[in-house]
Amino acid sequence: MNAKVELPAGVSLPLNLGLNDGTYCPQASLDAMLRFNHRTSLRNYTDANNDRLRGAIASADGVHADNVFLQNGSGPILKQVVPHVIRSTIKASPKRIARHLLAKNGYPIITPRLTYSKVPRKASELGLTVHMLPLAPEDGFRLNVDLLDQRLQKQEGFVYITSPNNPTGNVLITRKQLEPLLQRYPTSTFWIDEAYVQYVDEAEHEYISPLVARYPNLLVSRTFSFAYGLAGLRVGYLLGNTQLVKDLNGQLTDYRVGMLQEAMVIAGLHDKEHLPFVRATCAKERKVLLDGMSAMKGVEAFPSQVNFIFARFTDGRTGAWLKARMAERGIQIKCFDPFAGERYDEYFRVTLGVEAENTYFIDVMRDVLAKG
Ligand SMILES: Cc1ncc(COP(=O)(O)O)c(C=O)c1O
Repeated sequence: MNAKVELPAGVSLPLNLGLNDGTYCPQASLDAMLRFNHRTSLRNYTDANNDRLRGAIASADGVHADNVFLQNGSGPILKQVVPHVIRSTIKASPKRIARHLLAKNGYPIITPRLTYSKVPRKASELGLTVHMLPLAPEDGFRLNVDLLDQRLQKQEGFVYITSPNNPTGNVLITRKQLEPLLQRYPTSTFWIDEAYVQYVDEAEHEYISPLVARYPNLLVSRTFSFAYGLAGLRVGYLLGNTQLVKDLNGQLTDYRVGMLQEAMVIAGLHDKEHLPFVRATCAKERKVLLDGMSAMKGVEAFPSQVNFIFARFTDGRTGAWLKARMAERGIQIKCFDPFAGERYDEYFRVTLGVEAENTYFIDVMRDVLAKG
């Protein structure tokens, strides 16, 4: 190993740059955690419905507390709620039931290719039809909203859009593009996954979440795992119409989100310095990864608005090859399995770490490519 790739101070292995976890939590969350410093600190249950936390989220996102459904992460929400919404929508109409029984497309999922694959994969395991919209590097991975519109003209369905998108790292849909669709297709459901949205300043991109108060066919999911750097705490939420939130709460027990989670998240939401700090740090660190990878022969790295970089090989090597070589060096990255006839062999994704980790990643990747 050459001197350059010796493990620097501040980096420990294994280093997981494969799951998109954020880096820094709000200072106020850390302070809140440190106040739980006695053996009796967590002896009591928090309030049964997490009213304080739901209230804090509602006022941050411009909705009512009754629009907020909380869970231990937004992943569990996707897994529970997507099938629930699709099934109950199909059941509500004899025409949909017939289509579902005949061709499994009573209420198809419409989603871009190259998105957070858990949703289309789970749907297809459950025997639901998934319709993929194109997303290509030649168009900067832009979503063609006219194509989505044309698709919805043909048939209503469940639209799942992660914006900013995982893994491409760009905003896929704006309020201006979405609102006409919400109005034109009231029997379609639109799920916008805003898991990474806080990496983008609201001054540059108006968040979709406040529209939930106006459109019952709109659902928005969010999480504290990424820009709030609290993946280990497990808190995520869905914003949806009050009836749906009531139904979902009815399916689960109360006291789901604990007192420590609640205190840290509320403190984090009130910490005005946190998101500007995260955006500035990420912009700087993105440049390290983007410039570092772009300088490597046979690698094309794409601009990103969030805490990960999407890239591909242009010389025939595969993401799986790189993943295996990096794993031998103790670094995990993400590559992509084929799905529904689509292959993503040349692609890979790297999550931003802290400064020393990013520099180390670039040094190791350069070394791996040099050794072939
Ligand atoms: C787009 C998207 N949504 C939701 C999740 C789930 O995150 P969590 O369960 O930590 O809230 C992820 C995780 O990678 C994601 O990328």
